[in-house]
Amino acid sequence: MSDSELIHGLEVAKHASRDSCWVVVNGHVYDVTEYLDKHPGGSQILLQYGGKDATSIYEPNHPKGTIEKGLPKDKHLGPVDPATVATPQKPQVTRDLDKTARIPLSHCVNLDDIEKAAERIISHSAWVYFRSGADDLRALANNRDDWKKVSLRPRVMRNVRRVDMRRTMLGTRYRLPFFIAPAARARLVHEDGELCIARGAARAGIPYCPSTYSTVPHDELARGHAATAAEVGDDTSELWFQLYVAHEKPRTLELIKTARDNGYKALVITVDSPVVGKREDDERYRAELATASGDDTVLTEWYRPQTSEDGPPLRGHHSSTLNWDDLPWIREAWGPHNGPVVLKGIQCAEDAALAYDHGVDAIYLSNHGGRQCDDAPSSIRTLLEIRRFYPHLLGKMDIFLDGWVRRGTDIIKALCLGATAVSLGRPFMYATAYGDEGVMKVIQLLSEEIETTMRNMGVTSLDQLNPSYVNTKILERELPDDLRFEAEWPAFKPKL
Ligand code: GLV
Repeated sequence: MSDSELIHGLEVAKHASRDSCWVVVNGHVYDVTEYLDKHPGGSQILLQYGGKDATSIYEPNHPKGTIEKGLPKDKHLGPVDPATVATPQKPQVTRDLDKTARIPLSHCVNLDDIEKAAERIISHSAWVYFRSGADDLRALANNRDDWKKVSLRPRVMRNVRRVDMRRTMLGTRYRLPFFIAPAARARLVHEDGELCIARGAARAGIPYCPSTYSTVPHDELARGHAATAAEVGDDTSELWFQLYVAHEKPRTLELIKTARDNGYKALVITVDSPVVGKREDDERYRAELATASGDDTVLTEWYRPQTSEDGPPLRGHHSSTLNWDDLPWIREAWGPHNGPVVLKGIQCAEDAALAYDHGVDAIYLSNHGGRQCDDAPSSIRTLLEIRRFYPHLLGKMDIFLDGWVRRGTDIIKALCLGATAVSLGRPFMYATAYGDEGVMKVIQLLSEEIETTMRNMGVTSLDQLNPSYVNTKILERELPDDLRFEAEWPAFKPKL
């Protein structure tokens, strides 16, 4: 088919199945049949838009150039005849609103307020995506509830006029003891998406770790981040790179190269996602949309059993084979001088010890915001497990954690128990609905709360915090008594 030939919409419409799937994006027709099982967002969504104009769903979900660069040239079928396809809807980033419904940021006095305010103005699909968790949402609930099981033990009669909130992470001193966690698809809520977050991090002097699936390309993020740092005259902030190891090694190597070439200062490898969790709110909403559009035949896609070893397993959007033996080649590709390597998604003390054994620079305790394995422990609980069973790991490598961190007091609790720093994902995604201002508001609210809590606790520097400032008895009672797994399979016993 020559480039000048326009493809008729009726022709496109014939290719709407697993056997042949074409989509229109920005006026061009692409054959995505062979890409169905490789799509990080799953094949179902592609099939749902098979034979149709997918621009409105594609745009806010992908960095510019994704399909052009990602699909081989012979799958670029040519321009569609615009008169023969329904006009693509404008990407829906916000709902049609009665403007009085918009809550001013000045009315938001904590992170929960920002979440409620965002709910009013972001699309329902964005809301469902950011808020959802796996299965019965119990891992999500663990994250929220476990903070309440640790109480503080403030000290009084100390001069706390001046407090210092700086914290060293991965060898660099930042202005605050938290960083911005990876979370995908910020352009669902704002046209500038992750750029708002990168600029906020640069202004505040804290690290930001964008997702592999950032909807702003990583090079653009690096430029935006550097420009803001130059504008404010402060280069404290750094970008770290979150890596989903892909099915194909070349794709992973390409991602690592992107991180290196653009000066990302740490490689944060996500290890908790051999498959994507069963996020039922997303699935239900997609089904509802499909039914509303009169086409829910593709929904059976989710339930196809794996028929061969070749294709990815159900929900296997990235590597399902990643294991400890992969670390050497990943590290080699990253290079010895490009910065630390961090494992994100450690959920028990044994794996913390194994990570240390394998020489990683830091571990990041996380159950992926309750989005992966339901009933997984909160990261504060995993930190207590490490304290109980491998106390000698504390201080040997940096330990980060995330999971429903919403308050300055949560951050202080984590630091008392040995966390180097914490991170937050969802609150920044909600805040991005308000652009740069929203991002700065979250940072400001957290800073205020940390500062106030430090004074009320009787400390002037975060390094003064230690376990004597917290009571963990309730949570301690729920920890395992021993690590039976290790005793039964000595081969897995970390060599410490
Ligand atoms: C991506 O990391 C997600 O959890 O949706």
